[in-house]
Amino acid sequence: MMWTLSLLLLGGFLPQAFMEPHAPGQTSDADLHVLQSPPSLVLTKGDQATLHCSFPAGDPNGKGAVSWHRVSLEEDTSSSRTLSFGGRFSLAYPKTSLGKGNGSLVISNISWKDAGTYFCKVWLWGKEEKQGNGTRLVVYGHPNQPEIYLQVHGQKEGTITLACRTFGFYPAPVNFSWHGSDVSLTALGPAELWESEAGGFQSIHYVAMPFSSTWDIKTITCSVRHVSLVEPLSSNYTYDPGERGLSGNQLMKYLNIIKISLVLGLLMSMIPTVGRKCRKMK
Ligand SMILES: *[C@@H]1O[C@H](CO)[C@@H](O)[C@H](O)[C@H]1NC(C)=O
Ligand SMILES: *[C@@H]1O[C@H](CO)[C@@H](O)[C@H](O)[C@H]1NC(C)=O
Ligand SMILES: *[C@@H]1O[C@H](CO)[C@@H](O)[C@H](O)[C@H]1NC(C)=O
Ligand SMILES: *[C@@H]1O[C@H](CO)[C@@H](O)[C@H](O)[C@H]1NC(C)=O
Ligand SMILES: *[C@@H]1O[C@H](CO)[C@@H](O)[C@H](O)[C@H]1NC(C)=O
Repeated sequence: MMWTLSLLLLGGFLPQAFMEPHAPGQTSDADLHVLQSPPSLVLTKGDQATLHCSFPAGDPNGKGAVSWHRVSLEEDTSSSRTLSFGGRFSLAYPKTSLGKGNGSLVISNISWKDAGTYFCKVWLWGKEEKQGNGTRLVVYGHPNQPEIYLQVHGQKEGTITLACRTFGFYPAPVNFSWHGSDVSLTALGPAELWESEAGGFQSIHYVAMPFSSTWDIKTITCSVRHVSLVEPLSSNYTYDPGERGLSGNQLMKYLNIIKISLVLGLLMSMIPTVGRKCRKMK
């Protein structure tokens, strides 16, 4: 898909018929060169993008135009639509681009659909229109905080299945890693990966964990690595066997509580008796 953003500066729109590439007294075409930088730009969804475009500064009162067009990643050049600046798209110098020789484009709050190659096109009165070599904009998405949950289906005898899920990342894939002290976790195949409706990808990874009713509470960590992250994202899951029936350890804890209550109860019942005895002795 290709569309054009254009803003005609100082003098407004001039029909093609008025364009005279070799007007007398003007410098040659070779003088107009449009430089775009950087060649490629990797940012994260929500960031602000500045795509630089520079050219020899012209007469601030002269006629000309800076326009931008984009070839999106899907590259279906048959459908083309023209957009104007406004909203999230603007020029760094909306009124003075030509005088400054700076036609940089600023895109705020970038989204998935902004990805593509952007071309800066400059036309100055009496010169041939030139365009830069393009800036390829890549929009990354951070994965969300992973969520761990117990998979109720597909449990085998003596094991339980844990799932770790994350979404909203781009590009695919994410890498999962699991950690649990004194627990051996077995990956149940590679992570499942699919495209989210909201954009980006989501992924789920399953592990099997042996189950024992004699266990104490265990903490299991799932970490997610992605190209958009410096540090992996981690979440903890606390596995409490007591929640799945009274385990040996749990039973001991309950018995201890009962014992303490009995002792306290005995003490309480003795206090008034002791008090009365003390008073009698006075
Ligand atoms: C053009 O303007 C942008 C935004 O102010 C700035 O970051 C950039 O350095 C300028 N480029 C040149 C070549 O002056
Ligand atoms: C950025 O764009 C998203 C949609 O892509 C929108 O939900 C959000 O409110 C925007 N944020 C700002 C600060 O405009
Ligand atoms: C733009 O691309 C052309 C053709 O590939 C190349 O000759 C030229 O050096 C490039 N210009 C810049 C500024 O990179
Ligand atoms: C994910 O794992 C693959 C294969 O081990 C590796 O090539 C890739 O760099 C990893 N990606 C991240 C973001 O850690
Ligand atoms: C997760 O558990 C590990 C090991 O028990 C602990 O070091 C870490 O602080 C925990 N992280 C969070 C976010 O609770």
